[in-house]
Amino acid sequence: MGAVLAQADAESSLKAVPFSTRNGILEMMRMRRDPFAFSAERERKYGRVSGMNALGITIVTCSGPDAANQILMNKDRAFANGPAWTYLIGPFFNRGIMLLDFDEHRDHRHILQQAFTPKVLKGYMDELQPMVADRISRFPTGQVKMLSELKQLTLDVALEVFLGLELPQDEADRLNKAFIETVRAGVAYVRKPIPGGRWWKGIRSRKILEEFFYAHIDEKRATLTPDLFSVLCHAESEDGTSFTDEDVVNHMIFVLMAAHDTTTITMTQMSYWMAKHPEWQEKARAQSFEFGDNLEYADLANLTVIDLIMRESLRLCPPVPAQPRMAMKDTEVNGYFIPEGTFVVVPQLANHRSAEIYSHPDMFDPERFAPDRAEDKAHRMAWIPFGGGVHKCIGLYFAQMQIKTVMHQLLRHYEWSVPEGYTMPMDYSALPVPKDKLPVQMRRL
Ligand code: HEM
Repeated sequence: MGAVLAQADAESSLKAVPFSTRNGILEMMRMRRDPFAFSAERERKYGRVSGMNALGITIVTCSGPDAANQILMNKDRAFANGPAWTYLIGPFFNRGIMLLDFDEHRDHRHILQQAFTPKVLKGYMDELQPMVADRISRFPTGQVKMLSELKQLTLDVALEVFLGLELPQDEADRLNKAFIETVRAGVAYVRKPIPGGRWWKGIRSRKILEEFFYAHIDEKRATLTPDLFSVLCHAESEDGTSFTDEDVVNHMIFVLMAAHDTTTITMTQMSYWMAKHPEWQEKARAQSFEFGDNLEYADLANLTVIDLIMRESLRLCPPVPAQPRMAMKDTEVNGYFIPEGTFVVVPQLANHRSAEIYSHPDMFDPERFAPDRAEDKAHRMAWIPFGGGVHKCIGLYFAQMQIKTVMHQLLRHYEWSVPEGYTMPMDYSALPVPKDKLPVQMRRL
C-alpha cells in the first residue's frame, strides 16, 4: 500500500485517500502538458479520489459526477470557496463574490443578482449589439490570430457594457494588461512577490484596477446608467441593503475578470471547431441568415446551431478547468475520509471527457446535446462549465448573450479556415488557451 492522507477513526468505514509523493512541480508540469492523460493515469493508479503535492500544498482531486455533486451542492456546508480560491487568487481578487462563503455570500449574491435580471440583461444587450456590429464590420481579414482578436473584442465589450466609459486606447490597453496579469498570477509556481515575477505583477495590477475603479465611483453613484458599474452602485436587496464603495470595487474587479477570459476562450474554441468542421460553420451560418443582423433578446434561444456548438466547445474545453474548495470540517467524498483543512478540487476539464457519460468523448460532436440524444442529461453534474450549487456562474446568461451575438455577426459576414490537419496546441498552465493564439485564414463574404 502506498502513502495515504489521514485515516478516519478506527471504527469508521471510510477509506483513507491514496496519495502520490512524487515531486509536486514535476506533477504540475505533467498535468499542464496533457491534463487528460494525467487524470486518466491517476484514476487508473489511485481511483477517483487521490492526493498530490502541488503549488506548495496537498491537493485532493475528486473525479466523477457524484463527487462533483457532493462537493458543489455542499448540502452539509462542509466545503468553502473562500479559503481555497483565496490561496490561488486571493491577493488579486480579494473579496470577490466567488471568494465569499455561506451567509455573507448569500447576502452579497442577492444584491449582485440585481445586475443580472432578464430586464437588466436586455439593457446590456441594447448596448452590446451596435458595438459588436461595429467591431465585427472592422474585423481583420487574411491571417488572423483569433484569440487576440476575440480578447480585444471582449475587453471592448466589457468597457462599454460593464464600465459604460469611453476610455482612450492607451488606458484601455493598460486595463487589459492589468486583468491579464491578475489572472496569470494565480497559477504562478513562485508564490511570492519577487520583482518581475507573476505574483508580483498580479499585486501591482490589482492596485492599478483598484485605483481605476475608485477614481470613477462618484460619477457612477451620481446617475443610474445601463452599465454594470452603475447598476452595482445602485443595486439593493429586498431589505434595502446596498454595496459600500469597497464592495463595488471588489465585485467589479472580480466580475470583469470572471467575464473576460472565460468568454474569450469559449469563442476561440468555437472558432476552432467551426474551422476544423466547415460543415458546422455552414450550418450555423445558414441559421444566422434566417435572422436579421440585429438580434432581439428572444432570438438568442432560437440560434440552436450556435448553441449546440457552444455547448460542445464548453464541454471539450471548459474555460474554468477545475473548482477548488476547502474542507471546513472532517467529512467524506465517495467513501473517502476528507479531514478538515483539506484542499479538494473538482476537475471538470477531465470530468467532461468521461466515457461513462459521453460517447467518443474526445470527438467534436455537437449533436450529442440535441434533445434526442441529450448525453449531458445523464447526470446533473455531467456538464458543468458554469459550475453548480450556490456559486454557479451568475454571468452565464450574459456570457451566452455575448458569445451568440458575436458568433452570429461573425458568421454572417466572414468565413474562416485552418490548414488541413491543423490541431490547436493548448497551453493549460493558467486558463486553457492556444499557444499559437489560433491563426485562421479569414475571408469576408
Ligand atoms: C463562458 C463563459 C463563462 C464560464 C465558462 C464561467 C464559469 C464559471 C464557473 C465555473 C464559476 C464557478 C466557480 C466555482 O464554483 O468555484 C463561475 C462563477 C462566477 N462567474 Fe462565471 N463564467 C463565464 C462567464 C461569466 C461572465 C460573463 C460573468 C459576468 C458577467 C461571470 C461572473 C461570474 C461570477 C460573479 C461568479 C461567482 C459566483 C458566485 O460565487 O456566487 N462569469 N463562472
